[in-house]
Amino acid sequence: MAKRKIILVPDEILRKKSEKIEKITYKEKLLADDLFETMYNNNGIGLAAVQVGVLRRMIVIDVSKKDEEKKPFCLINPTIKSFGKESSTYEEGCLSIPETFIEIERPKSCIVEYVDILGNKTNMECDGLLSTCIQHEINHLDGKLIIDFLSKLKKEILIKKLSKNKNTSSRVIV
Ligand code: NI
Repeated sequence: MAKRKIILVPDEILRKKSEKIEKITYKEKLLADDLFETMYNNNGIGLAAVQVGVLRRMIVIDVSKKDEEKKPFCLINPTIKSFGKESSTYEEGCLSIPETFIEIERPKSCIVEYVDILGNKTNMECDGLLSTCIQHEINHLDGKLIIDFLSKLKKEILIKKLSKNKNTSSRVIV
């Protein structure tokens, strides 16, 4: 396992659409291990492969609290099959956008279909923080970021601020 560098906004790779994974080989398993290590090392609760520069549809998630047992999930080619009617709001951060938190309203629950690391097609019902986190990570696979939920003006101001960090696009957050 190895910790990988996290790519930061405004790097354009974060805006690209990730490709479907057709086959799970040792390379995909290695990528999953690296994503988990990178996520845990940076105290994140979710990470998408594109955030370490790999444009493939894989995300890792663990929303367990610090004193709880770890609940790691690796989702390959995840798609949301349905959303619940209720919504919830969280202040979301992103490992690719340092020191930025944005209040985002999303469906409180959803059903996600994905392939696990053993190649099994699985359905998972998600609620609360897990639902928000999965939606956030799937957005990454389609090049969508939390700053896209802001008004045009607020987004422009924030991007200008973040662009000052241009030379740090391969910086490791530790
Ligand atoms: Ni993110």
